[in-house]
Amino acid sequence: MRRFGGALYRCAMTAFHERQMGPAGQAFPSGALLDVHLTDTGVMATFQGGTVPLLADWLRDNCQCDVCRIVQTDERRWQPWSDTEAPEVLTAEVDDGALHLRFVGGHESTFDADSWRSIGTAMRRGSWTARIWTGEYQIERFDHDQALLDIDVRQRMFEAFRRDGAFVVTGSPTIPGTVMDFVRGVGLTLWDSSLGLIFDVKLDPAGYNIAFTSEEVPPHNDNAQYTHPPSGQVLAMLVNDAEGGESVVVDTLAVLHQLQAIDPSAIDVLCRVQVGFRQYSPAADAFTRAPLVVRDHNGQFTHLRFSNQLRQPIPFDEPELGEWYRAYRALGRLVADPANHVSFRLSAGDTLFVNNHRVLHSRKAYVAGGARHLQDVYFNADDVFGSLDRMNGTARNAMVAS
Ligand SMILES: [Fe+2]
Ligand SMILES: [Zn+2]
Repeated sequence: MRRFGGALYRCAMTAFHERQMGPAGQAFPSGALLDVHLTDTGVMATFQGGTVPLLADWLRDNCQCDVCRIVQTDERRWQPWSDTEAPEVLTAEVDDGALHLRFVGGHESTFDADSWRSIGTAMRRGSWTARIWTGEYQIERFDHDQALLDIDVRQRMFEAFRRDGAFVVTGSPTIPGTVMDFVRGVGLTLWDSSLGLIFDVKLDPAGYNIAFTSEEVPPHNDNAQYTHPPSGQVLAMLVNDAEGGESVVVDTLAVLHQLQAIDPSAIDVLCRVQVGFRQYSPAADAFTRAPLVVRDHNGQFTHLRFSNQLRQPIPFDEPELGEWYRAYRALGRLVADPANHVSFRLSAGDTLFVNNHRVLHSRKAYVAGGARHLQDVYFNADDVFGSLDRMNGTARNAMVAS
């Protein structure tokens, strides 16, 4: 039994549990449309898979006709504020499995089986299953050349990124800068900032970040000083002849669910109190203030901003200061708990990818004598998810055949 009770953590031998992420609510009913009748707010539609109320606003807005949308691009042309009155359905009938609607004002809409399929897919886009992992979990590994050349391997790699928030690429070239070729080669775009496009992490007495020393770098995510930190990070090991310096990753979904189970009010205060973060170099300076934890309106955690080393003083008269420190201590203890740490050694040619909004990374101290050279670049995780949706067929549109 782990020390965090409850259903999610009752099995000591399980290194992960699964959780559905993305939009709340139910999938659109499957099968053919059988019957429809008018209601006060729109229609009640009966499909083979179930009966659902459909709002007149929603039906009018999702009209598939060539007047309401731009056929070439599948973008919307009709604007919900174009008509003086809110949409109202005048007549509704089923004809050969298609729904025919006439609205007050005269506009007519038809929804056939293909319309329901494409609307149903689009409205559930972004649904995925997270593996929320702790200490014994194995981060999946992929071969560098296969990920570049074999689209099936790349799809599995991107699925691992969405599911786990981390994976390792092995057999990467160890020539400085080639990590950029790989990131571009799998269809991603590099994220740039005034601190630089690519970062050489090695022992540097003039370095501006703890990573440029040989001391332990505690778990953190990068670029907390930006209001919108990059959501993807790549850590490419080029040379690692140093003793020590093991890599550690932490799944913040696991940590935040643990904290929520033992102290829900701690989560609430971490969602409310704004904390400053700063990172600077001789040439650049960036600062932002933001709460550490972000939840979506379904209560799912979407971002933990965690970098104790970059944290700035909170105003002394913050009304929730005492509560915030109590919550931050509890959070920090869970982040530091080895039971939440997945540890491995990044050897030369190993490249770690992390979802920088979800997974924290850290490095143990190393002995300064041995050579160690890592290169960091960043990207947008949304590009991974978009690419994945094209590969698995959930991103069809006017310009995409499959
Ligand atoms: Fe870092
Ligand atoms: Zn229309």
